[in-house]
Amino acid sequence: MLRTVLGLAAQCQEGYTAGRTVRELPDASSLSSVVVCGMGGSGVSGDFLRALYRDRLALPLDVVKGPELPEFCGRESLVLCSSYSGGTAETLACFETASQRGCRIVSVTAGGALGERSGERGVPVVPLPGGAPGPRAALGYLLFGALGAIESMGLVPSITADLEETSRVLEDLAQELDPGEADNLAKDLAAWIGERVAVVWGADGIGSVAASRWKTELNENAKIPAFAASLPELDHNEVVGWSEGAGKGFVILALRHDGEHPEVAKRFPASIQIAEESGAETREVRARGQCSLARVLSLAMLGGATSVYLGMLRGFDPTPIEAIDRLKAVLEGGDR
Ligand code: F6R
Repeated sequence: MLRTVLGLAAQCQEGYTAGRTVRELPDASSLSSVVVCGMGGSGVSGDFLRALYRDRLALPLDVVKGPELPEFCGRESLVLCSSYSGGTAETLACFETASQRGCRIVSVTAGGALGERSGERGVPVVPLPGGAPGPRAALGYLLFGALGAIESMGLVPSITADLEETSRVLEDLAQELDPGEADNLAKDLAAWIGERVAVVWGADGIGSVAASRWKTELNENAKIPAFAASLPELDHNEVVGWSEGAGKGFVILALRHDGEHPEVAKRFPASIQIAEESGAETREVRARGQCSLARVLSLAMLGGATSVYLGMLRGFDPTPIEAIDRLKAVLEGGDR
């Protein structure tokens, strides 16, 4: 798992190549919406896409994390069905509805039923390499596979320059987070979190999706409950919860980057102070790079590595996700 987390740069490149080489993608003319359907580690790519492009895309981009396609999805919607395994019930249900409604579908998958059904119905597939130790560890494939395809469709401008910078940033960061490095920020953060409850904050947009990614990585790799919230929204509710004494046993990780809206950036110190007065300990972590892709993925890699080191510190193998497997088996078997 650690090797995959630290190998994100190469994965992004491979995902992009897979996306760019898909043939017979749907026609983008008269499209009115883009919808990404996917759960868990495969749905995250939709969250990242939305955060990266919402202020630059002429079309609304929605992310569906459940079995139902929104009513507005029809012939003029592009539906990206994202499932690394290709076997996730919710994503398959969206795929079926999208086929019935005549949506323009692209599947992003390493195979499974989604790959098979797409082949049978002539739906183009971004063919992701298999072998990642779980869909959450396939973020580079999933995100860049989707990006490559929508770039080919002309929906987003070329990401070549951003991908180059992102790869450089991620390669440098991977060296710093290598297990052999004694001065290692991810190990340090893992030890600092220890047995406490982690709450991750980020600024609305890429900071916020990075915070959610840290939360799920801490859940799945470190096997702990963890929570994420977004600024400025948390200043309108959560901040009240950081009342006298309530923060004991909690740590807050504030994920920061240079592209935050200035009005949102200003809120961090004041919000952190309130949390600290309640007894929580806090630390700020900064993204690397100049472009949004490098920033959000450097935060994602640092969160991934921190979660893996924390799992190991707590005596767990980060890779298995028994609770998810158990739920999938129970629901598939109809045994409730
Ligand atoms: C496992 C993971 C899960 C899966 C989810 C959907 O590593 O992160 O959240 O991503 O159960 O499965 P896929 O991604 O195969 O559609």
